[in-house]
Amino acid sequence: MSIYRNTVWFVKGLQEYTKSGYEAAAKHFNSADLEVNLKGRSFVITGANSGIGKAAAQDIANKGGTVHLVCRNRERAEAARDEIIQQSNNQEVHVHIVDMSSPKQVWEFATGFTQKHSINVLVNNAGCMVNQRELTEDGLEKNFATNTLGTYILTTALIPALKQLPDPRVVTVSSGGMLVQKLNVDDLQFEKGAFDGTMAYAQNKRQQVTLTERWAKEHKDIHFSSMHPGWADTPAVRSSMPDFHAKMKGRLRSEAQGADTITWLSVSTAALSQPSGAFYQDRKAVSTHLPLASTRPSTAEEDRLLKELETMAHKFKPST
Ligand SMILES: NC(=O)c1ccc[n+]([C@@H]2O[C@H](COP(=O)([O-])OP(=O)(O)OC[C@H]3O[C@@H](n4cnc5c(N)ncnc54)[C@H](OP(=O)(O)O)[C@@H]3O)[C@@H](O)[C@H]2O)c1
Repeated sequence: MSIYRNTVWFVKGLQEYTKSGYEAAAKHFNSADLEVNLKGRSFVITGANSGIGKAAAQDIANKGGTVHLVCRNRERAEAARDEIIQQSNNQEVHVHIVDMSSPKQVWEFATGFTQKHSINVLVNNAGCMVNQRELTEDGLEKNFATNTLGTYILTTALIPALKQLPDPRVVTVSSGGMLVQKLNVDDLQFEKGAFDGTMAYAQNKRQQVTLTERWAKEHKDIHFSSMHPGWADTPAVRSSMPDFHAKMKGRLRSEAQGADTITWLSVSTAALSQPSGAFYQDRKAVSTHLPLASTRPSTAEEDRLLKELETMAHKFKPST
């Protein structure tokens, strides 16, 4: 952990990631950007039963889009679906049960989904910060399995379907927390040294940013973006970062404020004039590195990340 990076990042966060940071940025938003009719467009949003993902799902349903909520818990997912339908009066809101930390479930979902449905936009929102080193049934470290491997498999499995429709996009909800981490491909599952859940999470979020940059280079016909929602008051922040939540409570963004840039990247024409592969905060592409932080990976490190994920993903791919 670098004290320099953590300090610079926290000061930046106090200015930009808080509710007041959002309000300052929102003065420059163009409200017309979100005046769109999404009827006939299909959106897949992971972790959409709560927090920022649910707020984005609500926004998109309000605008007439077909929304597929990809969640791990049926009860919570159906409650969210009912609420979104009730508030939007849009019946095209559907539930799919998938544990994103299970590579096999993610593969099976992607295959089954593309046989029955179309997809214009994928929002990789599901995420977790597990503070102890826990393993999934498959023996994978849980943060890595959910945040990195699950995102990797879902995205690569859906890319062919995305390419079949006009204006395809992939938005990945990363975190400004990734700024404190340099890509580390030597220990993807945090087997070495003392385990720190916050740093494991930040490393996964850095990996998501790298993946987004690489996907954008490889698939020019899809608009890819990663983003930071700011610091929003959600169940994840309350349960995984109770001290941070208690300290920052009155200064955190609402879930809707956190979701604003997800919706903007997913639906606006304005987002398409911005570069594919960039990292966004409050509707603007921003740097993926803090000044003087020495966090830039080499191309060889990026290549290794992709290779390792491809190998792992392949291991869990059901034979057809
Ligand atoms: N809130 C912030 O300040 C903040 C800042 C930076 C980045 N983010 C990112 O924003 C995204 C949304 O988080 P949030 O703050 O809105 O928290 P949240 O309300 O707890 O939402 C997280 C969502 O991810 C789902 N999820 C977690 N693990 C899953 C799994 N294995 N399979 C399927 N779904 C799973 C959760 O499902 P359950 O309800 O079943 O747990 C929930 O729906 C995350 O990627 C997070 O890292 C948030």
